[in-house]
Amino acid sequence: MNQQNIYDDPDFFAGYAQLPRSRRGLDVVFEWPAFQRLLPALHDKRVLDLGCGLGYFAREARARGAREVIGVDLSGRMLDAARAQTDDPAITYLRQSLEEFEPSAASFDLVVSSLALHYIADYPRLVHRVAACLMPGGRFAFSVEHPIFTARGAANWHPAPDGTRLHWPVDRYRDEGERRTHWFVDDVVKYHRTVETYVNTLLDAGLILARIEEPEAEPAALAEHPEWHDEHRRPPFLLLAADRPRPDRREDQGPAVKPARGAPPGRE
Ligand SMILES: C[S@@+](CC[C@H](N)C(=O)[O-])C[C@H]1O[C@@H](n2cnc3c(N)ncnc32)[C@H](O)[C@@H]1O
Repeated sequence: MNQQNIYDDPDFFAGYAQLPRSRRGLDVVFEWPAFQRLLPALHDKRVLDLGCGLGYFAREARARGAREVIGVDLSGRMLDAARAQTDDPAITYLRQSLEEFEPSAASFDLVVSSLALHYIADYPRLVHRVAACLMPGGRFAFSVEHPIFTARGAANWHPAPDGTRLHWPVDRYRDEGERRTHWFVDDVVKYHRTVETYVNTLLDAGLILARIEEPEAEPAALAEHPEWHDEHRRPPFLLLAADRPRPDRREDQGPAVKPARGAPPGRE
């Protein structure tokens, strides 16, 4: 598997490390209020974070009472920074690609992934492995760049001659696959897929859709970050939560329809 490890590119990492989310963590993350709406109570939960980056979520999960957190990431630079900020034996960081990582079956209560899955070419394969590693009743909660955002590739606002943002062009929407963009460096590889694919792949893996979010800035945040105002015009992120069903308990409770009179007694 020849996945790109762009976060270990020194120029990319230098740029990424300067972002407010890298320096200051979840409280300044645009989509964090919406992401929290996907989360169950974390007390005593076993949590897997796919593409854990600098480890902010791993530490937050432990602060909320998670029993243990495993963070997986391909980037040694990201994990070195995560380890430097973590002093907690219940958090383990693994350096591995998400394509190769094979979690044990039914071993996590919660699997999260924040802004990493648009780097993965084979999303269905990953979703099937996530579904298998969830406990019954467990949740998969993740964010990706919104397909409106990734559709065209090197997307940007269409400007008027005076620089005003006229509109956000969306094109090649159903044309799924690789997109190369400039973000700190040239040729950052991401994968575009439709909302339909993001959602139906979860359903095809046997999960039940629990929530969808296309966040915009909360009013209070807009006062502090006026630059977030235009995110209302086209959502930058798509957030999804889906649950592994529990075994059908009705089987334990006997037939839903009463047996006909004279029939042998069942398990009523
Ligand atoms: C935008 S960062 C997000 C980090 C963190 N989840 C957060 O929200 O702050 C994306 C992360 O995904 C990781 N990543 C990208 N492709 C990966 C792959 N194929 N396998 C493992 N990690 C990958 C990157 O190294 C990076 O740390």
